[in-house]
Amino acid sequence: MKVLIVGNGGREAALVRKIFESPLVKKVFCAPGNAGTSAYATNVKIPVNDIPGLLEFAKQECIDLTIVGPEDPLTMGIVDVFKENGLAIFGPSKGAAILEGSKLFTKALLEKYDIPTAGYKRFYDPTSAEKYVVDQDFPVVIKANGLAAGKGVFICENLADAISAIQEIMVARKFGDAGECIIIEEFLRGEEASYIVLVDENGHVLPLASSQDHKRVGNDDTGLNTGGMGAYSPAPVVTAEIERRVLNEIIYPTVDAMIKEGRPFTGFLYAGLMIDRDGNPKVLEFNVRMGDPETQPLMMRMKSDLVPILLAALKGELDKCQIDWDPRKAVCVVMAANGYPGSYRKSLYIEGIDEVEQAGAKVYHAGTALNEQGELVSSGGRVLGVTALGETFVEAQHAAYQAVSGIRHDGLFYRDDIANHAIKK
Ligand code: AMP
Ligand code: GLY
Repeated sequence: MKVLIVGNGGREAALVRKIFESPLVKKVFCAPGNAGTSAYATNVKIPVNDIPGLLEFAKQECIDLTIVGPEDPLTMGIVDVFKENGLAIFGPSKGAAILEGSKLFTKALLEKYDIPTAGYKRFYDPTSAEKYVVDQDFPVVIKANGLAAGKGVFICENLADAISAIQEIMVARKFGDAGECIIIEEFLRGEEASYIVLVDENGHVLPLASSQDHKRVGNDDTGLNTGGMGAYSPAPVVTAEIERRVLNEIIYPTVDAMIKEGRPFTGFLYAGLMIDRDGNPKVLEFNVRMGDPETQPLMMRMKSDLVPILLAALKGELDKCQIDWDPRKAVCVVMAANGYPGSYRKSLYIEGIDEVEQAGAKVYHAGTALNEQGELVSSGGRVLGVTALGETFVEAQHAAYQAVSGIRHDGLFYRDDIANHAIKK
């Protein structure tokens, strides 16, 4: 089989390596990929949003299966276009990808079908939004309605923060049209977890192992939100009982609701959850794809071949599948360019990855490239996802940081506390 993976981040690097291991697969392509994916796949210089270009390539190469990493091409309808052309692709249609593309759609759906989430109000103009926040208890959460690369969410501790968030989103239009409408949401307390499932054409659900992201840039969950500074799997906060509740109260009802709305969902459905002290799960957001960096520890733990599972999903036969997981814990520490998620330098040198991998860790590339001299340099904000396994979280964390310390660079940083939440449990 020939498999095409669309994307160029750490998530796609982890998918490429996993798919490369499948005995069913002869050749892997990654569009556009990064310096790390080129070791396992042929990188193809097509941007993720160039759907006609990707279609042309997939037809020309007779690609047997396409997997899409990021949300943009999914919300633009890549799955519809590929399917119309008889190509096998795993992911949601444009109509179903709205679950990530519009927070307003999702909040209204959750409300209509009584699926637990934070209370909210929506606003189309800054004046009425500002009037509303004056009377609120803080913190409040202010979100741009549309896609904003994970940066359109503001946790506002006071009125001044709230006004400036409203101004940035709706007036300065920091996220463009994504800021036409905002949602002002109740602040939820508890512990976050990522719960990702596969959903097939017949609405069958196959869960992946639980995982947990670290969204804030700084130690102890301080500073700005980022795409994710590290992750681990499994997430101890998701006990068997909570998992049962997440499936029954959130995942199955959402899959059913999407069918009832005439937007049946297929693909990876990622529920970002807040679990309160009493173990009640609520939806923070849905993503219509795998998480980044959650995919890195998940792929390191997944023992089953992913390819037959995806093929079964395309036939609507996920009910016949199960996934075997390495019982060990996996911890992924993201190394990012100094300054991220603000402005940062590119072309920072990176060395030592081979030695670190020989010692057992996996270093998934994200924003990396080879310069004209063939040297490995950074090309983005999040640069590497250094991932390791251990019998316990303490061991996995130690192994991951040991690996991080073996990587030489001229200007990357990382959080020192990835997986501390799991260790404390
Ligand atoms: P989202 O993109 O909606 O998941 O928001 C990004 C991050 O903001 C989440 O992972 C949470 O850390 C935080 N967040 C979003 N909504 C809420 C909320 N209602 N209460 C508390 N934290 C939130
Ligand atoms: N790690 C969060 C996300 O992929 O959206």
